[in-house]
Amino acid sequence: MTKDKLFKTDRILILIAGLVFAAITLATIIKDEIPDWKYYQSEFRAIATDVVGIDKASKTPRGIQQIWVDDLDRVDRCITCHQGIFWPGFEREPQPYATHPDLEIFKTHPAKEYGCTICHGGQGYAVDMASAHGFVKFWEEPLLAGAVAADYNISDKNAMIETNCNVCHRYERETEGMPYINLGKDLIQDKACWGCHIINGSGGTIGPDLTHSGEKHSEGYDWSNYSGFKSVFNWHFQHFDEPAGIVPETVMPKMGLQTKERHALTMLMMSWRDDDMPAQYIPGFKQEEQLHPEEIQKRDELLTGDGAFFIKQGCFGCHSIQAYGIKSPTEKGPDLTFAIDDVRVRFNQTLQEFIFDPSQSGTMSIIFSSKVILSDEEKWALIDKLTKANNEYKKMRQLEN
Ligand code: HEC
Ligand code: HEC
Ligand code: HEC
Ligand code: HEC
Ligand code: HEC
Repeated sequence: MTKDKLFKTDRILILIAGLVFAAITLATIIKDEIPDWKYYQSEFRAIATDVVGIDKASKTPRGIQQIWVDDLDRVDRCITCHQGIFWPGFEREPQPYATHPDLEIFKTHPAKEYGCTICHGGQGYAVDMASAHGFVKFWEEPLLAGAVAADYNISDKNAMIETNCNVCHRYERETEGMPYINLGKDLIQDKACWGCHIINGSGGTIGPDLTHSGEKHSEGYDWSNYSGFKSVFNWHFQHFDEPAGIVPETVMPKMGLQTKERHALTMLMMSWRDDDMPAQYIPGFKQEEQLHPEEIQKRDELLTGDGAFFIKQGCFGCHSIQAYGIKSPTEKGPDLTFAIDDVRVRFNQTLQEFIFDPSQSGTMSIIFSSKVILSDEEKWALIDKLTKANNEYKKMRQLEN
């Protein structure tokens, strides 16, 4: 090859490379010019032509669509892509074209007053899918759908939405369409969590106030004994299984909760946020907990009656005291109604000796030396209360006979 020929081939190669580069640049510009939502809108019109006919289909709006909800400080543009959301007949179409699976929900929560993200999460203002669905850095509220449910091993992919429902519905004792949250609320009463925690303004003070537990960010939790994928959800999920596994010095008892129950309580904890919701978005306008009357009576009795000591000190975490109507969520220790006689049989001590020197019981010597430190005065008061419990029980038995 002569030097001249070589020079020519080089020029041709450079020219080709230049053309390829220009083509790529042009394609990128065109792609940026034609955003994804335009593609979804034209696909939707094609599908709609089949489903509702060309006349109606040609009337689907073009361009960016939004629902602006001033009261909730949101601009949700989801319907830019989800164009079939309010149209019956698109139930079987793939996303983002499908009819909303629960159209009824817009009767009680009209879309123009609620938007979409208040229930779903995601980033309302965005119009590309990754940002709109909230899977981008610095956006803390991802779309609560398939991907999140898979991360948390929840089989119902829309279940996590209930966490958002309950930001408004928190004071209702139960709400249709919220099976997990309802189960969580049942457990709060069944396990008497309020014995150790203030919830909505009332309860015991052994554990932290839970009223706004959904506000606490991941930096606020103790991760030193935690293993696995770090998320607030998973912290609660593990903590509910075995509190002492995560916080070794805790008195919160292991309650033998099932997976579904732990999912339910975790969602409930995360839903207790302090979102300054305008009053008209709180059902019934009442910002106070609506328990069943018998639950209120039970709670008040336990927090103020003869058994209050055992609630306040957390003894009920392990002990029932039937004479005072106290039912432990775990029953790890014996019913204290019978302690006065039982201690003699079990430890060959009087109750008084046991309370002042519990060294024969591994559990109780740890509790009385590190978790519940009582003054001598309080110890005598405790002995009185336990003696009284047994007397009450015997009186009740006599009445029955
Ligand atoms: C750029 C178009 C686009 C925008 C804007 C958009 N979506 Fe989507 N959405 C899609 C597409 C495409 C799918 C189906 C593919 C997928 O889920 O990855 C989808 C799927 C979904 C699903 C089902 C997810 C699942 O896990 O099954 C939900 C729920 C949803 N979108 C809600 C929203 C909400 C709420 C908004 C507004 C904050 C929104 N989308 C904004 C395009 C969009
Ligand atoms: C009041 C709460 C609420 C509002 C407001 C709401 N949704 Fe939903 N949405 C739900 C619930 C609950 C489901 C799951 C229903 C079911 O599966 O039966 C759902 C399901 C969906 C799905 C299907 C998800 C899937 O798994 O395939 C999409 C898409 C969706 N919503 C989009 C929207 C868009 C867009 C808006 C705004 C126009 C909106 N939603 C407003 C509560 C709401
Ligand atoms: C932004 C606040 C808000 C969110 C989020 C919300 N709701 Fe509601 N919901 C309300 C209000 C307010 C009413 C009462 C409307 C009225 O007065 O008729 C209501 C009414 C209802 C009702 C009718 C009866 C009742 O219990 O009051 C049901 C059922 C319901 N919502 C379920 C849900 C479900 C399920 C979700 C989540 C998918 C949800 N809500 C999300 C505010 C909200
Ligand atoms: C015997 C008392 C006791 C009972 C009963 C109890 N807890 Fe706790 N809980 C505690 C204590 C003490 C802590 C603080 C140490 C820790 O994190 O375990 C705590 C911590 C927590 C935390 C972590 C809060 C935070 O911000 O770190 C949550 C959430 C919680 N409890 C929920 C519950 C729920 C729900 C129930 C009922 C199902 C319950 N607890 C029953 C004593 C109790
Ligand atoms: C972490 C669980 C736990 C907590 C919390 C707890 N106990 Fe106990 N307690 C036990 C166990 C278990 C026994 C049975 C003795 C043993 O196995 O060591 C016991 C035994 C007793 C006994 C002897 C009862 C008998 O019938 O023999 C008394 C009295 C007692 N506890 C009082 C209390 C008081 C008062 C509190 C609250 C200040 C309390 N306990 C908190 C677990 C607990």
